[in-house]
Amino acid sequence: MIFGRVKPLDAILATAEKKSLHRTLGAFQLTMLGIGAIIGTGIFVLTAEAAQKAGPGMMWSFVIAGLVCVVAALCYSELASMVPVSGSAYTYTYAVMGELLAWTVGWALILEYAVAASAVSVGWSGYFVGLLANAGINLPMELTVGPYAGGIVNLPALVIALLVTWLLMIGTTESARVNAVLVVIKVTALTLFIILTLPMMKGQNFDPFMPNGWFGQMAGLGAVGAAASIFFAYVGFDAVSTAAEETKNPQRNVPIGLIASLGICTVFYLLVAAGAIGTMGAQPVNGAAGEILSPGSTALAERCASLAAMGQEPLVCSREALAHVLREVGYPAIGNAIGIAAFLALPSVILIMLFGQTRIFFVMARDGLLPEKLATIHPKWKTPHVVTMITGVAVACFAAFLPVGKLADISNSGTLFAFFMVAIAVLILRIKDPGRHRPFRTPLVWVVAPLAVLGTLGLYLNLPFDAKMVLPVWGAIGLVLYFLYGYRKSHVGRGIVEVHEDDSDAPPPPVPPAPSFN
Ligand code: ALA
Repeated sequence: MIFGRVKPLDAILATAEKKSLHRTLGAFQLTMLGIGAIIGTGIFVLTAEAAQKAGPGMMWSFVIAGLVCVVAALCYSELASMVPVSGSAYTYTYAVMGELLAWTVGWALILEYAVAASAVSVGWSGYFVGLLANAGINLPMELTVGPYAGGIVNLPALVIALLVTWLLMIGTTESARVNAVLVVIKVTALTLFIILTLPMMKGQNFDPFMPNGWFGQMAGLGAVGAAASIFFAYVGFDAVSTAAEETKNPQRNVPIGLIASLGICTVFYLLVAAGAIGTMGAQPVNGAAGEILSPGSTALAERCASLAAMGQEPLVCSREALAHVLREVGYPAIGNAIGIAAFLALPSVILIMLFGQTRIFFVMARDGLLPEKLATIHPKWKTPHVVTMITGVAVACFAAFLPVGKLADISNSGTLFAFFMVAIAVLILRIKDPGRHRPFRTPLVWVVAPLAVLGTLGLYLNLPFDAKMVLPVWGAIGLVLYFLYGYRKSHVGRGIVEVHEDDSDAPPPPVPPAPSFN
């Protein structure tokens, strides 16, 4: 029976045993880790897209997406502290719901991480092109946006994705110190933005507050549709959960790290959104007949081009939203400084996402569900160079031709599915194995986990139609591959239950667990 293929929890835990001896991370380091992975293209770029979907009502979108992430994070923490090994949601599902569902989660996580890396590459490109333009260097439009906006290829996005791939292939990892510096840069940039914009806010810029209502005219619009997209801005907090095994007193510190990084980012996001709306206005740009134009569409790009010809660049048309706001309200130099902050910090988010993807691939290959050749470790670089290169090329191609919002939405569909499964897994494990030691217990689990299930489902249903469809199509491709390959080759299926003494055969994490904060 295929659902009976469960990887024994004890075998998984034996893998983690050795690791759990090195507990060095405290709540502060975990919070830094979380903020480092969370703040990125979501706030720096997608604020403009959220405005197009919801207008000033995007303030609600940030709140809704943040709340869904908090309940999902509480569920994640329980499993992360119980099953503290590589592979996050994929491994949890393997232990609780069996191989078939674990495969679908792992397959969806590929969507999450790889496509998120593409989205952040496109976000970085917007800031890079804007910085050059402000220095008087105008790259041809054909080479800076994909066909969706009248260009040919987004060359900067392609190049940064390949560059980060190469860094990962040769074994570059981000030290905790570099992560800390980048967090300070990002937080300083957002703080400056808030300090400068909040005193200049005008009440009339918030009116009408919800031009597209809660749900808009079609899926993906309105405040809830924008929440489904802006959810991307919070993705990355799972980095905190996956560091659970390196954490001192995880019962206390993992939830603090998760909630603190999410909470801090939510407050920043709300204040930044308020500053952007209050100073520049955030009303959607409609078509000639008053119809709502979708972000990333050719129609919106054309409308923005005609507005630009008249000397207007509303927030929703900008590819570097935060820098643009400051330039427009009289702080061009600080706008450029924020552009430089994004330019410096976003590549590390690409690195974390790409790394996460290769790690999932690696664990799936180690379980026999993917060809083990894919996860071959390079003799000198000590990295899974084959899978990193294949992933990186795919990430670069997506980044070259697709708009940032679409990529973020597709990534969200995979992430929401993974979080949904984790919330269900927590409940199943509470029933099946109530006596097992849980270093962290989700508080009010019978309220919190169902809320996470409903929240992730609700956001998924409010994604635009095409992004929503990617998940079942991708899932169907995955199932075909599973039955052609993984089903036959699976180690669990063949009765091989190996216990890895440690994860020394796995590539190192991008942010090493022994930080140099002290
Ligand atoms: N949350 C990350 C970002 O916004 C993925 O870039």
